[in-house]
Amino acid sequence: MLKLISLVLWVAAATTFVSAYTIVVPRDQDQEFPGGPGLWPEPDRYNTYPDVNWNRTYEAFEPQQIHLSLADDSKYARIEFATLSPAEQSSFKYWPKKHDKSVEIVQPETWEFEDGGEAHRTISLYRAKTRKLRAATVYQYQVGAFDNDKSKWSWSSVYEFHTGSKRKEFSFIAIGDIGLNNAVTLPQLIELSKTHKYDFLTLSGDQAYDMKDFDGTKGDQYMNLMQEVWARVPYLGVPGNHEGAYNYTHYKNRFKNVPFEDSGFDNPLMYSVNYKSLHLVSFSTEVYFDGTDDMIQTAINWLDADLTEANKHRKQRPWIILITHHPVYCSAPNTEDCTTKAALLRDGKVNNVTGEHWGGLEPILLKHKVDLYLTGHVHNYERTLPVAKGKVAGNGVLHNPASYVEVIIGNAGPPEPTVLFNMTGPFHDWSAVRYDSYGYSTVNVSPSKLDFTHHQVHQDGSLGTIADTFSLTKN
Ligand SMILES: [Fe+2]
Repeated sequence: MLKLISLVLWVAAATTFVSAYTIVVPRDQDQEFPGGPGLWPEPDRYNTYPDVNWNRTYEAFEPQQIHLSLADDSKYARIEFATLSPAEQSSFKYWPKKHDKSVEIVQPETWEFEDGGEAHRTISLYRAKTRKLRAATVYQYQVGAFDNDKSKWSWSSVYEFHTGSKRKEFSFIAIGDIGLNNAVTLPQLIELSKTHKYDFLTLSGDQAYDMKDFDGTKGDQYMNLMQEVWARVPYLGVPGNHEGAYNYTHYKNRFKNVPFEDSGFDNPLMYSVNYKSLHLVSFSTEVYFDGTDDMIQTAINWLDADLTEANKHRKQRPWIILITHHPVYCSAPNTEDCTTKAALLRDGKVNNVTGEHWGGLEPILLKHKVDLYLTGHVHNYERTLPVAKGKVAGNGVLHNPASYVEVIIGNAGPPEPTVLFNMTGPFHDWSAVRYDSYGYSTVNVSPSKLDFTHHQVHQDGSLGTIADTFSLTKN
């Protein structure tokens, strides 16, 4: 009997240990959840939401993976989609919802994308840019590809999107870290995308876990999962470490419709857009962790030049937001992400000869008075006070703040549990709010006020309470 009690106590202790350890292990290294890196996705309560067709069979010339992105002030939009086989002809047609006879037809450019795996699997991608769009207009559209087998066109469903209103104020959705399984916020995002209340969606990196898996078929499945959102609300995202395979070729090809050409960068890893009172920059922090010194210098030079130009127009566009994947400050326990990696990104590398730091991101953020650093990677939510050089700046005041605020939103739905904070701390003074379950954010921007709200989403996919809200104001 004593032996039995000892065994029960041992099992209980071992279970406790395992569960406590699981909570704090960096999730990127987990391999035990469906849809995680290298693992097949499975149907779950989120990816079986109505009209989500990530795991059905597509015909060879049937358009799929449809997603929008946009240029400055939604004057233009760019569509991208895929077919499994190369079509001889393709088409993008769109029209104002209220004037359905004014159909515009654009011929997409097309190319073959070859996955970097052993099978060298290819898909066909198509990209098309609208002509100048009218403001405050709901557009409907379809994409099509000529079915060589059946000698007829194969058309997508009709989707609709809108251009920015004529008012100064606007809203957008912000998320980070979402996969094919456990995409907890997806049902909410799909419903939000149908409301025409949000002008675009930012995504702070790490998608699909990983697009390269199974000869890139997971990338196709993921893009079809997210189609229900991005076919309606333009994507303005940034790559994360889970997009790094084969020199980011999945990301560079599948998101070739982001406005990088308009931004003076030679691939989709970096770009910026002007949108009413906002200058939004998509900056890939991943170059600090997998790039050469030259690549870091190229990235930081581009960012410095982009923000120098943005500051020439600061009266017109007072807000500058950087979307990135890696945090420069965070409080998650037991992870180098919040120590050595955050320091490398924030302060830069050390010159072996002079011992001085170079290439750090924080000096650029401070020099150009960036307002908000919106990031992910760590699978929870954390918001800082205005922070600089490891300390709270300007007593943490959010009116005409003395420095930038960082928000980590790596909790839209990675294929594993979120990272819990150590409840007992201690925490740095700059760590204002910590929330360690799932959620998405909405941001309302006007020339003098930026309202940020983080919405809790329950594990069952239903909307919870407001996990955090704050406002930055300027005069
Ligand atoms: Fe990440």
